[in-house]
Amino acid sequence: MTDVGRHPRIELMTLSEVEEVSGYIGNFKVKVRKKARYVNAKECTACDKCAEVCPVVLPDEFQQGFSSRKAAYIPFPQAVPAAYLIDMEHCLGNNPIACSKCLDACDKQCIDLNMEDEIVELEVGTIIVATGMEIYDPTPLDEYGYTRFENVVTNIEFERLICGSGPTDGNLVRPSDHQTPKRIGFIQCVGSRTDNRGNPYCSNVCCMATVKDSLLIKEHHPDAEVYVFYMDIRAFGKGFEDLFRRSKEEGVHYIRGMPGEITEDPTTKNLRLKVENTTAGRVEEYELDMVVLALGLEPKQDLRHLSSLLNLSHTSDGFVMEAHPKLRPVDAPTPGIFFAGCVEAPKDIKDSVTQAGAAASRSSIILNAGTITGEALKAVIDLDKCTYCGVCAKVCPYGAITVDVKGKTEARVVAAACAGCGTCAAECRFDAITMQHFSDEQIMAQIDAALEEEPEKKIISFLCNWCSYAGGDLAGVSRLQYPANNRFIRTMCSGRVDEKFILHAFEKGAPIVLLSGCHIGDCHYIDANQWTKRRAEKLWSRMEKLGIRPERLQLEWISSAEGARFARIMRNLEEMRQKVTPEEIEHTKKALARYRMSKKSAKEPDEPAEETAAETAQP
Ligand code: FES
Repeated sequence: MTDVGRHPRIELMTLSEVEEVSGYIGNFKVKVRKKARYVNAKECTACDKCAEVCPVVLPDEFQQGFSSRKAAYIPFPQAVPAAYLIDMEHCLGNNPIACSKCLDACDKQCIDLNMEDEIVELEVGTIIVATGMEIYDPTPLDEYGYTRFENVVTNIEFERLICGSGPTDGNLVRPSDHQTPKRIGFIQCVGSRTDNRGNPYCSNVCCMATVKDSLLIKEHHPDAEVYVFYMDIRAFGKGFEDLFRRSKEEGVHYIRGMPGEITEDPTTKNLRLKVENTTAGRVEEYELDMVVLALGLEPKQDLRHLSSLLNLSHTSDGFVMEAHPKLRPVDAPTPGIFFAGCVEAPKDIKDSVTQAGAAASRSSIILNAGTITGEALKAVIDLDKCTYCGVCAKVCPYGAITVDVKGKTEARVVAAACAGCGTCAAECRFDAITMQHFSDEQIMAQIDAALEEEPEKKIISFLCNWCSYAGGDLAGVSRLQYPANNRFIRTMCSGRVDEKFILHAFEKGAPIVLLSGCHIGDCHYIDANQWTKRRAEKLWSRMEKLGIRPERLQLEWISSAEGARFARIMRNLEEMRQKVTPEEIEHTKKALARYRMSKKSAKEPDEPAEETAAETAQP
């Protein structure tokens, strides 16, 4: 941190918040609110005189409330800059009782209680998101008594109690009587790996943090009894298994079982813990002086807001989603944005530092290149056809299209920001957008070729490049068998599949059409497949109105790892195909021909055209 603060080419903006982000890779504009610290950090010598005279006493957040701070304070000993700031929420200086003692005490005259927030506008080429994580709040787990018993502490509180620069100078004491605890229990997975009492995922770091803490206790107090209550100990990673073994050799007791309840002796403040030891197959009770809850990690609370500024998507656990878990693990789907640390998933210091290094390297490649080479797959707008309806801008997951609906300015694509998913082209009802290399003409020609002979025996499947098509590849290399009458048409994203492709396939005599993409939440173009889903729903109801069985259009989410499922779906489709009668196909052809003609005439001047999925979608 100090190195960063001193680096001539790094500007460290503390107490600052990103308010707005616009632009694209190489040309981001970021608006930052630099909050007032009420102390001129450049002048402050951290002499401590302001804090000495400050009458406001508050719990010190950094020390987890085990010690106090003043309203004039330094947030933590290693803070950069090493300068005081005023906690204006609690300062008396701006209240009716104007205290101003710090103003008088400061020889350097660097306190300004009227200082105001500053808005700074930055132009940057790339952005690295490294917002860290939140700690699970154990308050709802009443059986552990965190809010009722003083000697039940979290592992973060324990870290402060055993830290040399902590409130007790590293002397481990229990909060109730400041005596050294002789029997300490750790409960693992608090708020992790549970469906209804926290989060379903493993928080990655808690097992090794406990192993480390248990060794620290044994180092300082060899006679202390340490018990760890766990589901599994996950000691993967270099040297971790050794550390775990060492902890057991030092006499730490590992008991497999999650405690059901903790009670307290009101006189001694000792804790009694009941647990089903699943290895021994019996219920056991332990009397302990202190219990430490190994809390899980959670995404930052304000991450959703930041994600909306940066067009980021999230995995089901609330962390941000990377562009590709194996090939681009530190890249955001939006070009020019990278991730480091727990913003992407719970991880330890080593992994965070590794990821930060990778993100910095990826970023510097772009910055040093001067120009960037993008995919050739871009949306191109035919300005003569554009009616500035704004649908394309609404559906673009990257915010790569600008259009002024009120000012009636045609849509423009920022090529550097366009990722080529094709959702805009599928939703544009004026055919004003061409997807390079996946144009309407090219896809229609594939449908025509596939259904040229014996269309009634074929199935047309539109597969997205990243998941469904790759799932098909896996089925192939795994030598899984499925009927050979399926004709695959690959698009980069299922969002590219225009309803007219599907209707054209039916009109050409296809008995069954499959529309398939990545699972919802896994789309490689942020959330483009949400539009696929809406489009399919709209198509089903339209098919019903036209007297076509909606089941003939199937929508399936298939991941690249689901080769077996891919093959099974193909077999199911063939079963469905065999039930589609020639009469049904003929009826469909006629109904769709009529529908196409009526749609064509509806597009004549003064006639309203049909709405797209995007236009009818609720915000
Ligand atoms: Fe697979 Fe979007 S990339 S559905």
